[in-house]
Amino acid sequence: MHFKTFFGLIILSVFLFSCNQDQNQLVESQIIPIPISTEVINAVFVLNKDTGISLPDDFSISANFLKSFIASGSGIELKSGNDIIFVKDKTMKPEGYRLRISKDNIEITAATDQGAFYAVQSLRQLLPASFESGTFNDKKVEIQSVIINDVPEFRYRGMHLDVARHMFSVDFIKKYIDALALLKMNTFHWHLTEDQGWRIEIKKYPKLQEIAAYRNETLIGHYSDQPHQFDGKRYGGFYTQDDVKEIVAYATARFVTVIPEIEMPGHSQAAIAAYPQLGCTGEQVEVATKWGVFEDIYCTKDETFNFLEDVLDEILELFPSEYIHIGGDEAPKTRWKTCSHCQQKIKDEGLKDEHELQNYFITRMEKYLNSRGRQIIGWDEILEGGLAPNATVMSWRGTESAIEAAKQKHDVVMTPTSHCYFDYYQSDNDKEPLAIGGFIPLEKVYDFNPIPEELTAEEAEYIMGVQGNIWTEYMPNEAQVEYMAFPRMLAMSEVAWSQPDQKDYKNFVSRLEHFHKRLEALDINYANHLYEIEGELVSKNGKPYFELNTITEGKTIRYTTDGSEPIISSEVYTTKIPIVKSTVLKVAVFNSEKRLGKIFIREINLHKAVGKNITINKEPSKAYMGSGPEGLINGINGSNTRFGDKEWLGFSGDDIEVTIDFGEVTEINRISTRFHNGNGQWIYAPKQIYLEFIIDDGSIVTDSIHLESQTEHIITEFNYDFVTPKNLDVKVKQVTLKIPNYGIIEEGKQGATNKAWTFIDEIIVN
Ligand code: ACM
Ligand code: ZN
Repeated sequence: MHFKTFFGLIILSVFLFSCNQDQNQLVESQIIPIPISTEVINAVFVLNKDTGISLPDDFSISANFLKSFIASGSGIELKSGNDIIFVKDKTMKPEGYRLRISKDNIEITAATDQGAFYAVQSLRQLLPASFESGTFNDKKVEIQSVIINDVPEFRYRGMHLDVARHMFSVDFIKKYIDALALLKMNTFHWHLTEDQGWRIEIKKYPKLQEIAAYRNETLIGHYSDQPHQFDGKRYGGFYTQDDVKEIVAYATARFVTVIPEIEMPGHSQAAIAAYPQLGCTGEQVEVATKWGVFEDIYCTKDETFNFLEDVLDEILELFPSEYIHIGGDEAPKTRWKTCSHCQQKIKDEGLKDEHELQNYFITRMEKYLNSRGRQIIGWDEILEGGLAPNATVMSWRGTESAIEAAKQKHDVVMTPTSHCYFDYYQSDNDKEPLAIGGFIPLEKVYDFNPIPEELTAEEAEYIMGVQGNIWTEYMPNEAQVEYMAFPRMLAMSEVAWSQPDQKDYKNFVSRLEHFHKRLEALDINYANHLYEIEGELVSKNGKPYFELNTITEGKTIRYTTDGSEPIISSEVYTTKIPIVKSTVLKVAVFNSEKRLGKIFIREINLHKAVGKNITINKEPSKAYMGSGPEGLINGINGSNTRFGDKEWLGFSGDDIEVTIDFGEVTEINRISTRFHNGNGQWIYAPKQIYLEFIIDDGSIVTDSIHLESQTEHIITEFNYDFVTPKNLDVKVKQVTLKIPNYGIIEEGKQGATNKAWTFIDEIIVN
């Protein structure tokens, strides 16, 4: 953490608001994302019907936005005048601004209308939240005098939205864009085509509207629930070109660029369902009704390229963005391998294999778009078989491709699954609505550093910025999209806009708690996990204690150990709780009147490996590090449903070896653990476990256990009892579990031809 600079730059003063119903109290500077510097002056500016605003041509978007925001928020119609003025300063950075509010006037200085627009968004956040809902009903508002100087850290500040798995109204898309503007984000990545639906009108190809836009039914529940069940209801729709024009104009008026994504060559089954000749087999397929990766992808014959060029011609008319997203991700090569067209193309073009054919595909589309003055952006698989010459990479599978692309002097947008996938769970509470998996709580998003450590300062210049992704397989409606997007989008805005050394999670949380009122006024169904408990088993002088924490200030933590629900009179937590036996802890956050958040429950199993030494030969994946190796012997089981929580560890493709050193000869009877089968997410339990014990005389004893394949169960149990088969002397100094990866995933399954993931839970030794 970098508190020193943070406090050096910002004078954290209190803002005094009066004369209105929702802020007649002392509050701190609450702007999200936090500006570079905020200086508070002991004065207020009074805004009322006599206030005049200048509307210079150079700042017409921002000035008019402010005028109409105040009118719709409060009914106060600003006159023409010089109380609120806009000043051009060409020396400033394009998106930067200065906002000076004094007793006498408000002065907004910027080089561009966009910079001034961001000043207006800061000013908006200094006005009462009731402005957002048009319910401010006083005749005047007092605005705290401040001087804010501000400029963004990154030039690309984006949010993505998948409207193909589920579709949302034009009004909702506008609401989403509004939120981006409020948070000074400047890019809306609109994911328009998928296996499960094609969502944009293309006039030349009417079957995209008639066929590709609709699926016959939709998977119910989670992909990992077996057997798959469907709802039997036709689902779909598309945005007309008029809808698109309306949305693009709306975004443009908020300095949000809309980047359309037309997926190729994969995730194209809906288009192939409409026009089977676009696929390799020519056979009729259906618009997909479940999630995942599908083998029917665009064939590399000329007919496909003609189709895609026609589609892009219409797209280019609708979207003025510099970038067009061409997808590129998750394209299995199965069909290409047996297709005479594709094999002929490989020969004709002198390509090595299907990976180079993917590169040929992307490069050919890039040439087409470049010739029309646009640039391509694609998911990191566009590095496959070589990178198209001018492509920008959206790095999602990790940071390796970002590093590779930046080293090749290509621009990169960071959106790794470890921090930027807002379709992952944000809480490990069992009551969370169904999500795809994973675990990305707010703090993890907030702590994201978009610049990979491996890059030099020069290479880091190619990191254009960051993006949060909203994939909507498990978000059937707008309320659920909002629940998953907020407040993580707010954390992402600060990652994108604010200086790294200004970031302070506790301070962010206190601003977010205040921001809740604004989100409510905006009728946004945000998730509130601010009153949750964090807890972990810690060791002090070799003895276990349980430490509890909650992130918001001024609250009380209360707990029980007898299994009862904590209530307002339950014991107050003041210091680490000593754990002398296996215990069930139930804990919650309270204010002076009532419980605020959900109840946190931990069953602490004080087994024989707790607190011992553990080593693992491989690092878990960044997205599934849990609480590190120690989390496997911390006395706490992982969730039965949230495999990305802090207790499970996930490894991608590795054979792993876990060694527990007891430090002394220990009598043990049983070792058990659990593995997750999440086959939709490429996660498989191992088939075999090898055990190696160092026993009391120093000799090594080995054994192994075969695990039945149980892919229909989401958890595979592993238990090793010492009575059989070798009748070991059960005094053990050290045990190693050798856990080979499941291996290559079979054809026809999600992730086929890739190595599986291994997910392991607590290793319990009794
Ligand atoms: C992706 O998540 N398939 C880009
Ligand atoms: Zn083909």
